[in-house]
Parts: sequence; structure tokens; C-alpha cells
Amino acid sequence: MASTGHVHCLLVCGARPNFMKIASLVDAFDATGRVRRFLVHTGQHYDEKMSRLFFGELSLPEPDVNLGCGEGSHARQTADIMQRFEPVLIERRPDWVFVVGDVNSTIACALVASKLDVRVAHVEAGLRSFDRSMPEEINRVLTDRLSDLFFVTEPAGMENLTREGAPMDRCHLVGDTMADTLLKHLPRARQSRVVEELGLAPRGYAVLTLHRPGNVDNAATLAEILDGVAAVAAAMPVVFPVHPRTARRIASFGLSARLAGLPALRTVEPMGYLDFLRLMADARLVLTDSGGVQEETTILGVACMTLRETTERPYTLDIGTNRLVKPESASIRAAFSAVMADVSRPRRRSELTDGRAGQRIAEILLRQ
Ligand code: UD1
Ligand code: UDP
Repeated sequence: MASTGHVHCLLVCGARPNFMKIASLVDAFDATGRVRRFLVHTGQHYDEKMSRLFFGELSLPEPDVNLGCGEGSHARQTADIMQRFEPVLIERRPDWVFVVGDVNSTIACALVASKLDVRVAHVEAGLRSFDRSMPEEINRVLTDRLSDLFFVTEPAGMENLTREGAPMDRCHLVGDTMADTLLKHLPRARQSRVVEELGLAPRGYAVLTLHRPGNVDNAATLAEILDGVAAVAAAMPVVFPVHPRTARRIASFGLSARLAGLPALRTVEPMGYLDFLRLMADARLVLTDSGGVQEETTILGVACMTLRETTERPYTLDIGTNRLVKPESASIRAAFSAVMADVSRPRRRSELTDGRAGQRIAEILLRQ
């Protein structure tokens, strides 16, 4: 506890999905009147449409510091964030560093904090895909080894932390901060005209997002996926907001002409959060390899085909909207037919997506 009687928390964000998670923390911390917060943006994502746009839409405060790190190999990016973060942390000396999710900014700042003996709180702790070929899995495992306080989104996370020997009195099943942000912003998102502007009919189109290196960094895999998606596009328009990693790969693999040959597959720039929420909410189907989009379609009750063989978010499968689909053309085609034939209703929403995860985190923080 700082001498002012406030708890001093440094919040770290860097990549697109981080902004939705910290927005809930900022709201909840500010509502207590007892948390002094300092916001650090690592600069991992830097395009207007991957970063700044969300600060306006989510009414996030300006970062107190932007470390201005950028792209690079994993080692270079992680080391760059660490080097730039260390002096900030030495100067601020907060009571806690809050890191969210599983991106390189998460592990880089957790590692710096733990070496400087500053306590680390990890939001979205305990998730495991059990697939070490995913860089995020390594980030998750290591961040949890270094953390002092664990905020967990779903029961599987608690089980994983128990099995790994985490101190269970410091592990708290609080639910999903992304759900907090979604529920808060859904009424505004419903006012977006994006569906109409794209000339789409509600429930008459699909949405596609792709950015996992395992899917997009290999030309043959990416071509397979696009071949499967072509079957969806033969049945309904597919809107594809293209992540910058994926845009670069499509260009360098010479797949642009293949995309242009599928007029029903509409590539667009990465979207703002409100437009993207409206687009998902009214879609017949979402195809994705995103972690956050699996959560969001579950909350919205929209069918989701996750183009991966594993998920670190198994409750999305239990609820019934999400299904894992091998990123291969034949599997995508078969799963699409199954989704179109499926008239079952998703089971009820989890109480862990009630919009109050941030509040529970703030309450637990103030008890430390
Ligand atoms: C990162 C995260 C991933 C997360 C994703 C969310 C890691 C290891 N990966 O993946 O877990 O799901 O963000 O979107 O932390 N680029 C731009 N403009 C930007 C950002 C990136 O052009 O604003 C391009 C650059 O070429 C960059 C590449 O995308 O090299 C990859 O960016 P990076 O942040 O390293 O990884 P992502 O694939 O975005
Ligand atoms: N998102 C967005 N615009 C888009 C695509 C995604 O606002 O064009 C949002 C999405 O609603 C979710 C977050 O970005 O809140 C997910 O980020 P991403 O898929 O990049 O990362 P992941 O969750 O896989 O780490």
C-alpha cells in the first residue's frame, strides 16, 4: 500500500486484445477511488487500427508512457520491451504490475517486474492449450510461474494452476474481463451501421479472422484455409478484416489473386471494436483463430468455428457455440455443413461472463 493510502498499480498493455481487458480494469479500479494507476503501452501494436482507435472507442485514458517498441523476432521484441520497461518500473516502483493475456508484452513486463521484486498480478491466468508450438502458450506458462496473484477466467484455469502447483490461496476465479467490456459496449455497438454499409443482411453472412502464425505463416496452410473458406463464401458473403500479419503473408505468398477471385470474400482493414462487435453479433457464423473472438462469440451466442486443433478456453466448447475445426479445407467444409444443419440453442451463459470480473478483481486487490 502506497503512503497515500492508495494501492499503486501499473497496468501493461501492448497488443489489440489487451485493450479490451484493461478497459475493464481501469473502470473497476477508478470506481474504488483507492487505486492509483499508471498505464504503460509497450507499443507492440502500433497501427492506428490496431491500437489508437480502441483508446477512443473504449474511453481508455491516454497511456502515461508508450515504450515505442515495435516488431521483430520474439527474442528481439521481448528483449526490447524489457529494456524499455525496466527504467519505467524503477522510477515508478508500484505496489503491483498488472499484466493481461498471453502476448509478448505480458511475459516481458512480468519478467522485469519479478526481477525487480515488484509483485505481478496476471489477468487471464491458468489458461493452457497444451501446445508449446504456440508462442502464447510459452508466455502463459512462464507468466504464471512469475505471478503473485492469479485472476482466472474459467474453471479449467483453476485446474491447470492447481496441477502446476500454483499457490491456490492466490488464485481467484473471477471471470472474464473481456465480457465486462463487451456487455458495457454492446448497446453502442448495436448502433453501428457497418452491416448495412457492407450491404449485408443480419444472420446472412459469415465473419473471418486469422492471425495465428501456425495458420498464416505457412503458404500451404493458409491456402488450405482459404480453400475451405471458399465453400462458405459460395453460400453467403464472408467479411474478412485482415490482421496486419496476415495481410503481409497473403501478399508475400502471392495469394492476393486467389482472394480477388472470391468476390463473396470481402477483405477489409482491421475494424474498430464497436463495428466488429456489431458484425459478430449479427453474423450467422464466425470463423476464427483468435482467442478473444472465441470468448466473444460465446457470450453473443453466435456459432463459431475455431480453425485450430486446441483451445485454451474449453468452456466455450462446453457452452456449445464454439467448435474446433482442423485448419484444412475438407474439415472446414464439413464443419460448415454441420453448423448450417445445427438448430440447437446454445446453453445458458456462464455466470463468469456477468460483466463484473473487473469489480471482483478490484475487491480482491484491495484485500491484499
Ligand atoms: C500478437 C500476439 C498474439 C495476439 C495478437 C493479437 C505475441 C507473441 N503475439 O500477434 O498472441 O493474438 O497479437 O492481434 O505477442 N504489425 C503491423 N502493425 C501493427 C502490429 C503488427 O503491421 O500494429 C505486423 C508487423 O509486421 C509485425 C507482425 O504484424 O511484425 C506481427 O506483430 P506481433 O505483435 O509481433 O504479433 P501478432 O501476430 O500481431
Ligand atoms: N477485434 C476488433 N477488430 C477486428 C478484429 C478483432 O476489434 O477487426 C477485437 C475482437 O473483438 C477482440 C479482440 O480484437 O476483442 C481480439 O483480438 P485478436 O483476435 O487480435 O487477438 P487474440 O484474442 O487472438 O489474442
